[in-house]
Amino acid sequence: MMCTHMSTTMSQLPSVPVPVSHLKVLIAREEIARRVAEMGREITRDYQGQSVLLVGVLKGATIFLAELARSLQIDATFDFFGVSSYADRTHQSGEVRLTKDVDTSLEGKNVILVEDILDTGLTMNYLKNVVMTHKPRSFKIAALLDKPARRIQPIDADYLGFTIPNEFVVGYGLDYAEHYRNLPDICILPPEAYSGG
Ligand code: IMP
Repeated sequence: MMCTHMSTTMSQLPSVPVPVSHLKVLIAREEIARRVAEMGREITRDYQGQSVLLVGVLKGATIFLAELARSLQIDATFDFFGVSSYADRTHQSGEVRLTKDVDTSLEGKNVILVEDILDTGLTMNYLKNVVMTHKPRSFKIAALLDKPARRIQPIDADYLGFTIPNEFVVGYGLDYAEHYRNLPDICILPPEAYSGG
């Protein structure tokens, strides 16, 4: 199945690395919605009678966080971390830097770090350490995607949407050079889009 979200005119804008209509769908919107709802039920069950603080990682996790939050049937608040991204997002540089801290206190809270994708594991390990210094009551990770083939530092999600092969994916919040975040499906970006050939 090919991505069909945008009109032909829009998908041919010169700033888009590959026209949206040429991207192959890896996980369709219906499948994402089903899985995110299930994850919401798992979290609701695990934290029955308690509140959770969902801490999203900007900007990729925003759409997942919004969907996940709406599937929770417990009290939930939000906050966000900003981290520096790779200079070239398709190659890991090994460096993670905090560009935005949370606005609220994490102390004594049930913190769930919400991430779009676990790739090398560097970002989540870094943020886990940051959160732990604030002494939360509990700490868990919810990740929409996991690409275990590229892991450098071990990390596991407590709530995981999908394990995917070693492909660069875009859509549902995930970008390539800030493009494609608004696609409703998760699509594969062909290597020629970022390898120059
Ligand atoms: P990690 O630190 O290598 O685990 O990288 C996590 C971050 O890299 C994610 O939050 C994404 O922003 C970005 N990333 C990793 N793989 C992909 C991908 O396939 N598509 C889009 N962004 C990705």
